[in-house]
Amino acid sequence: MFSQDAVASPIDPARLASALAPPGRSTLLPREAYVDPAVFAWEQAHFFSGWVCLGRGTDLAEPGSQRAVSLGTAGVLLTRAEDGVLRAFANVCRHRGHELLPCGSGARKKGIVCPYHAWSYRLDGSLLGAPGFRDVPDFDPGPLGLIELPSQEWHGWVFVDGSGRAGPFADHIGELEGIVAPYRPATLQVLASHEYEIAANWKTVVENYQECYHCSMIHPELCAVSPPDSGSNLDLDGDWVGGWMSLRDEAETMSLDGRSAGVVIEGLSETERRTVMYVALFPNLLVSLHPDYVMTHRLTPLAADRTAIECAWLFPEEAKQQAGFDPAYAVDFWDLTNRQDWAACESVQRGLSSEHARPGPLAPEEDGVQQFVAMVANGYLGQDARKTVSPAR
Ligand code: FES
Ligand SMILES: [Fe+2]
Repeated sequence: MFSQDAVASPIDPARLASALAPPGRSTLLPREAYVDPAVFAWEQAHFFSGWVCLGRGTDLAEPGSQRAVSLGTAGVLLTRAEDGVLRAFANVCRHRGHELLPCGSGARKKGIVCPYHAWSYRLDGSLLGAPGFRDVPDFDPGPLGLIELPSQEWHGWVFVDGSGRAGPFADHIGELEGIVAPYRPATLQVLASHEYEIAANWKTVVENYQECYHCSMIHPELCAVSPPDSGSNLDLDGDWVGGWMSLRDEAETMSLDGRSAGVVIEGLSETERRTVMYVALFPNLLVSLHPDYVMTHRLTPLAADRTAIECAWLFPEEAKQQAGFDPAYAVDFWDLTNRQDWAACESVQRGLSSEHARPGPLAPEEDGVQQFVAMVANGYLGQDARKTVSPAR
């Protein structure tokens, strides 16, 4: 799931025991997991150097598209070549290490030119030219191509393994494939997106997303369309946790009035039409599967107490074709709910910053949090997290 180097845990293993206790006896992670810059740096180097979602492939649709993003402790350069293949490279020139593009920026060109001394590369990463080397005897451009990293487009989302050692992508996804595939996300279009930056640790955001124990307290609008005590969590293969909740009988989808202004995604089962599936794919992609739209939250940790969140809403083409189609019915509902959640997460962060904070017991309704916390704790210990989540596994 992440870089499988032998490494020391960033937290004393004895202090992780209660987070790894069986359901019913487990607790939150120790508070330093949420507030200590050293733990944050460890996570960036290990969790965020394995398979991480970097956005949608459609952001790099045209041949020649290039985009540099920071990933964990390093930068990644994504390119779309003329052959349509998306590739990921370490964002580092083979000459003296200059970044090829500043992280956060993009370009559309036939090749890649380093801004320092103008070494140039093809979109497949091979070295095209190195000024001044024409007459240098035995200069061989062959081994001087950019360092390629494992990458994968999965239902339209781009994933990169920044370490190159995270193992097969199919193992990372596991049985999530069968849950996501019916919604055909590759055919859906992002028709709205919001960017948030919140003062909370990235794990607090995932933990909050993975339980509805808080819903009756802070989400009256959500409870009006989906019973907060409905549904259950799944325990299947792959580096993810998740489960489903029901829509109320009178609700078509998650919106402020329960109505959908879109269309049901073609081919969904009766169960999929009456439920919403909430999945957290480790470490940074939250996927919410509704009958008529898919919403994602993509997390980028900025510091122990800061997280950037890109929220995107994807709809079927047939919805977009409807005269006057407006995604606001889904966007307004979740923007309101997101803000309720961010306020709670920021308050948790302020609370955990107190030296008096102690990891409290997780309630039965927080089994999704227990699964995620165990995944993180196992990750700190360098173990393949999902294997020890459930004794039945
Ligand atoms: S560092 Fe890139 S050309 Fe010199
Ligand atoms: Fe919530």
